[in-house]
Order: sequence, then C-alpha cells, then structure tokens
Amino acid sequence: MTDWNEIGTLDDIPPQGARIVEGPDGNIAVIRTEDDNVFAIHDSCPHNQGPLSQGMVFGHKVACPLHNWTFDLSSGEAQGPDEGSVACYPVKVKNGKVFLSIVKTA
Ligand code: FES
Repeated sequence: MTDWNEIGTLDDIPPQGARIVEGPDGNIAVIRTEDDNVFAIHDSCPHNQGPLSQGMVFGHKVACPLHNWTFDLSSGEAQGPDEGSVACYPVKVKNGKVFLSIVKTA
C-alpha cells in the first residue's frame, strides 16, 4: 500500500519549476511541468550531484543545470547519449493538493 503525504498545493510549485521536499535519502525535487503534471525525483544528478530542482523543465524532462544531462521525469532515465538514472517517487495531485510517497519507483 502506498503511504501518501500531503506536501502542499499545486500552486506552491511554479510552472516549469520545482519545490524541494526532504526525503530519507536526501532532497526530493517535486517538479511541475508546463501541462500541470507533477513528478518527483531525487534532487541530485547521478553525473556530479547537480541540483535537478534548479534545472530547465521542458515537456516531461529536466536538464541538469550543471552539465545539461537530461532526464525523463517518469522513468528517471538519462536521455542519450548520457547513461544513468535518478530515483523517482510516486506523486499525485488531488483537488489541487499534491501528495508524495517516499517509496522509490525507479
Ligand atoms: S552534474 Fe548533472 S550533468 Fe553534470
């Protein structure tokens, strides 16, 4: 069973931006896309720990602010030619409120 924690409202997250939530394994970047989907990923790039919460969000992807590795927000997979992945967490929006589970999905 998924254990959901309310972490605020959708309006707390800037469009194409992120909010940081403390997780058991470090910060989690809760990212809102232009089409108002919300994704949650570990806020540390596997390349050299860049803060993905400060990356550029486009489509359902985020580009690391340090060296531009790009990650798919649903799978956490780096997009070619780079290889690696970042942990993803279940997140959902209900009645304008955002809920996060800290169980990693990828
Ligand atoms: S630290 Fe993210 S691409 Fe280098």
